[in-house]
Amino acid sequence: MNTIIEPFRIKSVEPIHFNTESYRKEALKKASYNTFLLPSDDVMIDLLTDSGTSAMSSAQWAGMMMGDESYAGSPSFYRFESAVKDITGMSVVIPTHQGRASEKILFSITGGKGKVFISNTLFDTTRANIEFAGGQGIDMICKEGKLPTIPAPFKGNIDTEALELYIKSHGADHIAMVIITVTNNSGGGQPVSMENIRETRRICQAHNITMYIDACRFAENCYFIKTREAGYADKTIKEIANEMFSYADGCTMSAKKMHLQI
Ligand SMILES: Cc1ncc(COP(=O)(O)O)c(C=O)c1O
Repeated sequence: MNTIIEPFRIKSVEPIHFNTESYRKEALKKASYNTFLLPSDDVMIDLLTDSGTSAMSSAQWAGMMMGDESYAGSPSFYRFESAVKDITGMSVVIPTHQGRASEKILFSITGGKGKVFISNTLFDTTRANIEFAGGQGIDMICKEGKLPTIPAPFKGNIDTEALELYIKSHGADHIAMVIITVTNNSGGGQPVSMENIRETRRICQAHNITMYIDACRFAENCYFIKTREAGYADKTIKEIANEMFSYADGCTMSAKKMHLQI
């Protein structure tokens, strides 16, 4: 028998409120079936986001104690900047308190009326920030990504044929950027292949379109590439991440996940 146990110990627990099916049905009705209007005390298992919903690692808690709160020039920032540069190869690193804050800044500058953002699937905060700035978000998930019962290795891919078709019929001037979300969280947390990212880059480059990565679960996505895509089995997760980010002009990231890697 193959027993898989979690490779960590959990040091703190938080009680959840138990309720009944009929209570939950009533709570949902009261919230007009809008999960954002549900009081979180009524939620037993929260699948709305994976941000901040899991335990922090001992290294993260220790890191908070070691953090330098200096108003400027903090060594914590330099450590963070160097780690991000090492993984992404990007030359400019801007810390924000959370993913949605970086999206707000990015789309206030690059978005606005008439601007279109195309993605495999935009996360809800990403779409909200695009629309709040006056732009439009378009999801182009691949065909197998729309079929939950069919197994496929990379169901988070963007439909590159649909992307090319869109560009052919609408032009590219109004496309502010193409955003590849790894993993594709709103598409069921499904991974995106390197081949798909590379092909998206090729299309973007051919039409002078900026390409971004929403990198919230980049390490898991790299793991799926390593285990499922030909040619990557012998590469390290870092090498795969380096290649993945090399195709992007920039990225935003919610770092409130993936605690074991940090
Ligand atoms: C793909 C994706 N993008 C952006 C965000 C927003 O990040 P944050 O919750 O840190 O604001 C999330 C959060 O779950 C996400 O999954």
